[in-house]
Amino acid sequence: EKGGYDHYMRKEIHEQPTALRQILECHSSGEGLPDLDSAFLDGIREVQFVACGTSYHAALYGEYVATERGIPASTHLASEYATHARPVSEGTLVVAVTQSGETADTLGAIETAQRADARTLAVTNVVGSSAARVCDGALYIRAGPEIGVAATKTFSSQVVALSLFADQLAGEDSPSGPVDFGSLPGGVERVLETSRSRDIAERYRGRDAFFFIGRGVGYPVALEGALKFKEISYEHAEGFAAGELKHGPLALVTPASVVFAIFTGQDDEKLLGNVREAQTRGATVVAVTDGTNEEVLRQADDILSIPEAPPTVAGLLANVQLQLVSYHAAALLGRPIDKPRNLAKSVTVE
Ligand code: F6R
Repeated sequence: EKGGYDHYMRKEIHEQPTALRQILECHSSGEGLPDLDSAFLDGIREVQFVACGTSYHAALYGEYVATERGIPASTHLASEYATHARPVSEGTLVVAVTQSGETADTLGAIETAQRADARTLAVTNVVGSSAARVCDGALYIRAGPEIGVAATKTFSSQVVALSLFADQLAGEDSPSGPVDFGSLPGGVERVLETSRSRDIAERYRGRDAFFFIGRGVGYPVALEGALKFKEISYEHAEGFAAGELKHGPLALVTPASVVFAIFTGQDDEKLLGNVREAQTRGATVVAVTDGTNEEVLRQADDILSIPEAPPTVAGLLANVQLQLVSYHAAALLGRPIDKPRNLAKSVTVE
């Protein structure tokens, strides 16, 4: 049932091109979002995303895309939203991003939003899940079943679904055009075929700490890269907005650290500055990059290549590289990759 792969996680990483084609094709075949009534988004002037874990990172990525399209959007940890709800108005849509649709924290946030009379939308992989049933509308990410506890393909499909949702909401007078995801499935295939992630995992095995830094959409990817890494390898991993390094985390950086820097074409020059800050403290820097900026190639100690693509696509390609690095790091350490200790696929307690 694992289709010849050792683990579901690896299988699901490799299913991403198919999953992405599924959602992109179903959206290109019709007018607007196939799951939503065209009137559903009428009058929406502000979006609040609520989610946990990997879905929170996908939501944050979605917030960056939506904001670029001129939509006021914010992202909140579902577990905090119930305690510290944001003000909502008639024009507020609360979007619950949850692949399982059963996460108790997220269902709690939906309840909080509904008590305040906000309109609610579930973005989920599971038709008929609790989130899909209780929200006013549901948008399905069509990634296919995901068995590994570590979410992989659902992250990519969530980001695409949220971007398509942002396109629909942005309408005509958006300051920027829709993201063209046409090159994404093929780009992911290229990464899967050519990745040096196993070598990288092997080379830096045994280091003290693994840091992930990025700017723009590279920031949610940094958070997600670190979450995946700690979750399945049990090694110390942290993700930071690159500009924050110098505001505290730099104290952790030593010659025993590895820093993964995610270059997407957004603010690459500033990110290079942050790379130098880490290298000055002796850290090894692995750049995830399309290689078009020669300065990045010169400065980095090691490279993980991604195909050339616009930043919003590049962030997803970089994320696939980091999924593979985590997978190989965990496999080399003999971890139970599909069922990491202390974790469950669907977290039904608050
Ligand atoms: C990590 C992971 C979790 C989930 C989180 C929310 O790999 O899978 O962080 O993303 O528990 O789950 P859903 O999306 O089902 O609400």
